[in-house]
Amino acid sequence: MSAAPLFVTLEGIDGSGKSTQARRLAEALRAQGREVVLTREPGGSPGAEDIRKLLTEGPPDRWSPETETLLFTAARRDHLERVIAPALARGAVVICDRFADSTRMYQGLRGEGLRELVDRLHAMMIGREPDLTLLIDIEPKTGLDRALARQGGEDRFEGFGAGLQARLRQGFLDLAHAEPGRFAVIDGGRGADAVAADILDVVTSRVA
Ligand code: ADP
Ligand code: TYD
Repeated sequence: MSAAPLFVTLEGIDGSGKSTQARRLAEALRAQGREVVLTREPGGSPGAEDIRKLLTEGPPDRWSPETETLLFTAARRDHLERVIAPALARGAVVICDRFADSTRMYQGLRGEGLRELVDRLHAMMIGREPDLTLLIDIEPKTGLDRALARQGGEDRFEGFGAGLQARLRQGFLDLAHAEPGRFAVIDGGRGADAVAADILDVVTSRVA
């Protein structure tokens, strides 16, 4: 594998296996001798992790979609400035569990005009796309069952329910269809080993 910097993101609905697969991809690339920065959103830098707490805890109606978009974008800007851009500048692989496509879907699909707001803020404050986005596609019911089986108090988004997860799933597939050069769609409804093997194949072939 070449030593060029590489910015990879994982996207998908809640419980699709992004964190599990991000970790496994990081391990596989480190075993090949690459420097890997494994990170996540919302969060990934100290300031962005503080904003994460505001976003993921509390009742579902704590923030309007517009305020949420501002908070996610603020967190992303800090993460990009302090973690992602410096890592890419020194030639590392950055693997990020969720990025701007999550805002496009989770905030952008919540009402009239919101997708445009998300895109304009992204262009103004972030202005950068990943080299490769792995969309882990899964049935909403499977994802929800997996996510609810997990421990932890970060249930604000999972409270939005199965209907929303189905709309998000379709939205992510539409994004992947619109940008086939950046996205790879991975079938996440299989065992973690099979999913990890597919992902490593895609990353290896895209980089070569
Ligand atoms: P996400 O980050 O997309 O929410 P996680 O990687 O945290 O998903 O996975 C959600 C839950 O499902 C975790 O408890 C994890 O151990 C489990 N899990 C992940 N991948 C699989 C898989 N392929 N098959 C079954 N369970 C899985
Ligand atoms: P995450 O910890 O990735 O949740 P999960 O592991 O369950 O997939 O993200 C927390 C929640 O934040 C998740 O429900 C998706 C949501 N989110 C947005 O609404 N917009 C965003 O831009 C991002 C990055 C996440």
